[in-house]
Amino acid sequence: MEGAPALENTAEANGLGAEDASPSRILDIGYAFWRSKALLSAVELDVFTIIAEGPQRLDSLVGRVGIHERGARDFFDALVALGLLYRDEKDRYGNSADCDRYLDRRKPSYLGELLTHLNVRHYQNWGSLTRALRTGAPQSKELGLGSYRALYDDRPTQEIFLNGMTAGSLLAAQALAKEFPWRDYRTIIDIGTAQGCLPVEIVYVHPHLTGGGFDLPAIEPTFMSYIRKHGLSDRLQFYPGNFFSDPLPEADVHVMGRILHNWDLPTKTMLLANAHQALPVGGALIVYDPLIDDGRRVQAHALLSSLNMLIETAGGFEYTAAQCREWMRHVGFRDIRTQPLDDVHTAVIGIKAARE
Ligand SMILES: C[S@@+](CC[C@H](N)C(=O)[O-])C[C@H]1O[C@@H](n2cnc3c(N)ncnc32)[C@H](O)[C@@H]1O
Repeated sequence: MEGAPALENTAEANGLGAEDASPSRILDIGYAFWRSKALLSAVELDVFTIIAEGPQRLDSLVGRVGIHERGARDFFDALVALGLLYRDEKDRYGNSADCDRYLDRRKPSYLGELLTHLNVRHYQNWGSLTRALRTGAPQSKELGLGSYRALYDDRPTQEIFLNGMTAGSLLAAQALAKEFPWRDYRTIIDIGTAQGCLPVEIVYVHPHLTGGGFDLPAIEPTFMSYIRKHGLSDRLQFYPGNFFSDPLPEADVHVMGRILHNWDLPTKTMLLANAHQALPVGGALIVYDPLIDDGRRVQAHALLSSLNMLIETAGGFEYTAAQCREWMRHVGFRDIRTQPLDDVHTAVIGIKAARE
């Protein structure tokens, strides 16, 4: 029927027929930050690392975790009800399998630094979402200035941010190590590398590769210590520079992970053009971000991540694979394909073609 909305836009298509409308989903989303903050505080208090030593009773946990007894029982039982802990028949609390693997800081699979980043930065910043929506202005005092300098001036802020970047890119980096034909290339440079998580994960799995990470000079000490810790100082080096004023280092493959989403469209295109210029013919550019689905109605995480860019940055936004393909084609990349990485990140990969 002319003028009727497309089916997927209707309330019925979303399971919201008037007869079975219920408040459950609204309340569930409305209260979601309670669950979220309970988890973030548990990570802040290192609950899962302490419990990973073995199941423990309430009285021992209260002392080890260092919380007041008034809220303790409810806190641990809430974590049980959320499925993050279990309580056995002897009333001892233990970690669920996922918390044991990913939230025990003694394990190499630890992702708690990402949750710390969410707790310390995002949780506060998101309190300003309404103001960001009303004004269109960034609400983060550091990145809102349009540069990373303010973020890195303060040592603890820098550390939380960079550790958060490593934990947040680890799964995507491990997926990329598997899902790209690295045997066809010899050198890789990660543009905006932070501590260097991505090149570490990739060259670790592919011993023929060398390269490094390009980032602001302030990052060098933390990059170098991360690379040393992983025993890769002979194969990875740091390239200090500013991608607004310096040429990008030459390599067979450039990666831009969670770089484009920080910037407005002219800057995104400029960065893509700079990568194109630095790559040899046949070289590859791998871009990844939390990509929005082309129809802009499914990937809630990516759409919310775009709002996070509104809150945090002066001009950043997330984008669809179709948009990215178009921008890459425009600056000269060909054979462009998309590659899902982890639950939230998707890569768009293009090859520098010979001049047409
Ligand atoms: C959002 S973080 C992404 C880090 C990493 N690629 C990842 O996915 O975890 C953006 C990175 O870009 C770097 N960066 C920001 N502005 C830069 C500039 N002008 N030149 C070089 N690097 C820059 C930051 O220092 C930071 O490491």
